[in-house]
Amino acid sequence: MRRPFIAGNWKMNLDRASALALAEGLAKQSKGLDGVDLAVCPPSVYVDAIGRALAGSNVALGAQNVYHEANGAYTGEVSVAMLRDLGCKYVILGHSERRHILGETDAEINKKTHAALAGGLLPIVCVGELLDEREAGQTLDVIRRQFDGSLAGVSEEQMGNIVIAYEPVWAIGTGKVASPTQAEEVHLALRNLLQERYNKGVAEAVRIQYGGSVKPDNATVLLAQPNIDGALVGGASLKVDQFMGIVAGLTK
Ligand code: 13P
Repeated sequence: MRRPFIAGNWKMNLDRASALALAEGLAKQSKGLDGVDLAVCPPSVYVDAIGRALAGSNVALGAQNVYHEANGAYTGEVSVAMLRDLGCKYVILGHSERRHILGETDAEINKKTHAALAGGLLPIVCVGELLDEREAGQTLDVIRRQFDGSLAGVSEEQMGNIVIAYEPVWAIGTGKVASPTQAEEVHLALRNLLQERYNKGVAEAVRIQYGGSVKPDNATVLLAQPNIDGALVGGASLKVDQFMGIVAGLTK
């Protein structure tokens, strides 16, 4: 049985005061919740303060990105050890905005994945197709290429520490959510790929989140799909009620 995992990706939003208020609200409202893993990934400059606000709560801390080198002359970058030092448990890697706006490649994402695993951060590795790739019938090829590229050299044991997020790019921030059938088809393909590349045990254990316009009113039916094990939430993670509304969708 895979434990559901709902994570908020705050992206480059909020100011310090509103980020703190959001974290405090989530810490309070998630008190006593059981049977689900929760996390938020604030902008890196707020990670320290948000970690303090979440201390002792049911909400874990994550980062939105990391650099693969341990230290040195890499202006503007942040290391795995730095994020661990601030209490981060997770790191989002290969988000489509980093792939398509910042130009991150599978090879770079792969280096970051290995650095995160070696340093004790649990990677949330994102994959997802563009609209024209979906329309050209290439969705599963894209997913496979990103999976193989981002996860190259990851051992069976390490795979147990990875979460995969399927985020169709056309559904991110657009209000156009993938239908439960569209999402489930890709999640099942990812599960089969895990079995092909690893084995049945790994395929059954790895959690696969869906991301892309997840809201309280569409979460229940998405999360009810057999291979959807949680959500990576953007816009709706910026409001306590909406994020907790999505979490509530799990228990309906
Ligand atoms: P939205 O929920 O705003 O569509 O963003 C999804 C996402 O990119 C989460 O990483």
